[in-house]
Amino acid sequence: MDATHRPVISATGLYTPPETITNAELVDSFNEYVRRHNAEHADAIAVGDRPALEPSSVEFIEKASGIKSRHVVDKASVLDPGTMCPRIPERANDELSIMAEVGVTAARQALERAGRAPGQVDAVLCAASNMQRAYPAMAIEIQHVLGIDGFGFDMNVACSSATFGIQTAADYIRAGNARSVLVVSPEITSGHLNWRDRDSHFIFGDVATAVLVEDAAMAPADHWDILGTKLKTVFSNNIRNNFGFLNRAAPEGAGQPDKLFVQEGRKVFKEVVPMVAAMIVEEADRLGIDPRSLRRLWLHQANAGMNRLIAQKVLGHEASEDESPTVLDTYANTSSAGSIIAFHQHSGDLVAGDTGIICSFGAGYSAGTVFVRKAG
Ligand code: COA
Repeated sequence: MDATHRPVISATGLYTPPETITNAELVDSFNEYVRRHNAEHADAIAVGDRPALEPSSVEFIEKASGIKSRHVVDKASVLDPGTMCPRIPERANDELSIMAEVGVTAARQALERAGRAPGQVDAVLCAASNMQRAYPAMAIEIQHVLGIDGFGFDMNVACSSATFGIQTAADYIRAGNARSVLVVSPEITSGHLNWRDRDSHFIFGDVATAVLVEDAAMAPADHWDILGTKLKTVFSNNIRNNFGFLNRAAPEGAGQPDKLFVQEGRKVFKEVVPMVAAMIVEEADRLGIDPRSLRRLWLHQANAGMNRLIAQKVLGHEASEDESPTVLDTYANTSSAGSIIAFHQHSGDLVAGDTGIICSFGAGYSAGTVFVRKAG
C-alpha cells in the first residue's frame, strides 16, 4: 500500500424514516390477512385442497429474532391487509427518486459531520441490496444533487453492500484514484419483503446510511483509521430474490413470492455464523490484532441470536451490549445499513486507540469486515 494514501472513515450519516411499525401492529395486520384468506378459501381448506394459513405471533418474532419494531417509508399500505406492501407513488423523471432522496439526507449529514464541502468529494457509490431502477445510477443522481464533480455508480452485494463499498472506496484511495468517496446505502427493504410470508414478514425495515471514506491527509482529526478490509462470497440459494428485468412480477404479486425476498432462515443461521466468526478471527490474526481485545463489534443486524454467537466466538466470552451493540430491536434488519447504523450510533464514546470491527453478512452468501481504530 502506498503510505501516502491511507484510507480512513471521516464521518457517517443516518436517515431514519419517521414512521414505525411495532410487532403488535404488524401481527394484527398479518393475522387479519390470514383470517380473510382462510375465510375466502374455507371450502378448499375444508376438503384439504389447500392448507389454511397460520397466524403470526409477537412472542415468536421477538424470541426468534430480537426485533421489536421497524421504520418504514409507508406504514399505512404495509399494514393494510388488502395491500401489504409499500405504495410509493411513481415520481416524474425531473423529481428526485426516493432512494436518492433518503441517500442524500444521510450523505449530507456525513459531509456536515466531517466539515466537508461536496466540491471536495470525488466519487459516490450507492451500495444497497435493491435498486429502484436500472439506470441512470442512483449514485449519479445523488452525486448530481450534492453537486459533486467526479463519478458514481451503483453496486449490489445484498446485506454486505456497505462493507464492499467501503473496501472499494478504500482501494480507490490507496491507489490514488480518489481522495474522498461517499458510500451511500439507501435501503428501502420494505419493497422487497413479502409482508404476507409468516416466516419472514417481520424481518426488515427501511433506512439510509452514508460513510465518508477519505485519504488521511485530508480527513478531519476526529476520524477512524481503516486497519484492514476483507471480503468473502460463497454461493448459496438460501437467501434469494428472483425479481429482475428478464424475470419480473408486480412486487405485491402474492402468486410469485420468489420475486421477493425468500430465505431458509435456519440454514442461513447455521451456515453463516461459523463462516463470519472464522473470517473475523483470521483477519484479526492477519492484522496482528488479538480478537479478544476488540473494544467493540458493530455487527450486521439480522438476528440477535446470530450476533450473540458470532461475538462470543470472536471475543471468547458472552458480549455485553457495550461490546456488541444492538440496533435491530428498533430498526429490524436494514440489510447493508445495519452495521453502519450500529457504528453511527455507538461509536462516539470510544477513545483514541480503541479498535473495533464493522462486519456485514447476508445473501450471496457475502461477508465483509472493516477493522477500524479511533485516531487521536
Ligand atoms: N409466528 C409464529 N410462529 C412462527 C412464525 C411466526 N411469524 N414464523 C415461523 N413460525 C414457526 C414455524 O412454523 C416453526 O414451527 P414448527 O417448529 O412447529 O415447524 C417455528 O416457528 C420455528 O421456525 P424457524 O423458522 O425454525 O424459526 P427460527 O427460530 O429459525 O427463526 C428466523 C427464524 C428467520 C428469525 C431465524 O432463522 C433467522 O434470523 N435466521 C437468519 C436470518 C438472516 O440473517 N437472514 C439474512 C437476511 S439478509
